[in-house]
Amino acid sequence: MAIERLVEPTASMGDSEEEKIEISLRPMSFSEYIGQERLKNNLRLAIEAVKKRNDGLALDHILLYGPPGLGKTTMAGVIAHELGASLRVTSGPAIERAGDLASILTNLKDGDVLFIDEIHRLRRAVEEILYSAMEDYKLDIVIGKGPAARSVRLDLPRFTVIGATTRTGSLAGPLRDRFGIIHRLEYYKEPEIEQIINRTAKILNTKIQPEATKLLATRSRLTPRIANRLFKRVRDFADVNGDGIIDQEVAVHSLNLMEIDYLGLDPADRNMLRLIHDNYGDRPVGLTTIAALTGDEATTIEDYYEPYLLQLGLLARTPRGRIITEKGKRHLQNPQNNV
Ligand SMILES: Nc1ncnc2c1ncn2[C@@H]1O[C@H](COP(=O)(O)OP(=O)(O)OP(=O)(O)O)[C@@H](O)[C@H]1O
Ligand SMILES: [Mg+2]
Repeated sequence: MAIERLVEPTASMGDSEEEKIEISLRPMSFSEYIGQERLKNNLRLAIEAVKKRNDGLALDHILLYGPPGLGKTTMAGVIAHELGASLRVTSGPAIERAGDLASILTNLKDGDVLFIDEIHRLRRAVEEILYSAMEDYKLDIVIGKGPAARSVRLDLPRFTVIGATTRTGSLAGPLRDRFGIIHRLEYYKEPEIEQIINRTAKILNTKIQPEATKLLATRSRLTPRIANRLFKRVRDFADVNGDGIIDQEVAVHSLNLMEIDYLGLDPADRNMLRLIHDNYGDRPVGLTTIAALTGDEATTIEDYYEPYLLQLGLLARTPRGRIITEKGKRHLQNPQNNV
């Protein structure tokens, strides 16, 4: 049942080396969470107000959306930490039936934060239970079957839902309306990514030279998760082929090895652009057709590949589909040069 998948923020997760590193890198407080200043300012204010009023009312429900790897899950942990609340974690697909959600909700305590990842994937029946739970902390459940069935209304504790999604478009209007704070996470600025890389280097006890930090930051697609991922690969390279220090030469070598180009695109990104270009030229092409060409799921393309290509202006969205731009074509011709 879904409730069993709930995990405490840190006691959770397996113990592979990779996961340990992942947890050690995850910011816990606003001061460790780099960037997203507007979001942090709004949240700081809201949290301070809740604490100051201290009237038993919970923080408004919060919806965080934006491309993968920008720190939505991380921010949910930070909010719980700053509130001094405990965090319960679940996800849209994990809550299979209305009863699963009911048991999650009835096990919450006043002030708890319930994080629902991929909230756009909640089933309709589950979503409907969530409406009244979020709105007036009531749970409407039906007990019994057939003519004997009756509906009961249970009081729930005052809790805060933090929903995360890569796509708000797929979120039902009534659900969206129940969030008091709705915020889109933006791609980071390069200097912020540099700070994140330097922070990671410090936590992982690795020396990195400023030029190398800069270079990695330009290839990280302005995304913290990618910055950390590249950092770990480059650190491996430095340990194996050098003295463990990440300098410019090490960074260039390992980025070339990974075939990451100067815009941060990897072979899969370029392959997708090339397939669109070679098969459709200047004509728009639909998402499902692109998926068929690359062999990926349409949602993977939409959530993982496309957002950054759109952000860079290599790909454009039209009412009739995606189209490769002039900039996209130039990049394919010469991925290692400035366009
Ligand atoms: N603002 C930040 N400062 C420092 N590190 C960050 C920040 N945001 C994210 N990270 C790092 O990037 C990693 C990815 O972040 P996170 O898992 O929160 O992204 P996400 O938006 O939830 O992605 P997804 O949509 O795939 O679930 C985290 O493990 C964390 O270490
Ligand atoms: Mg996440």
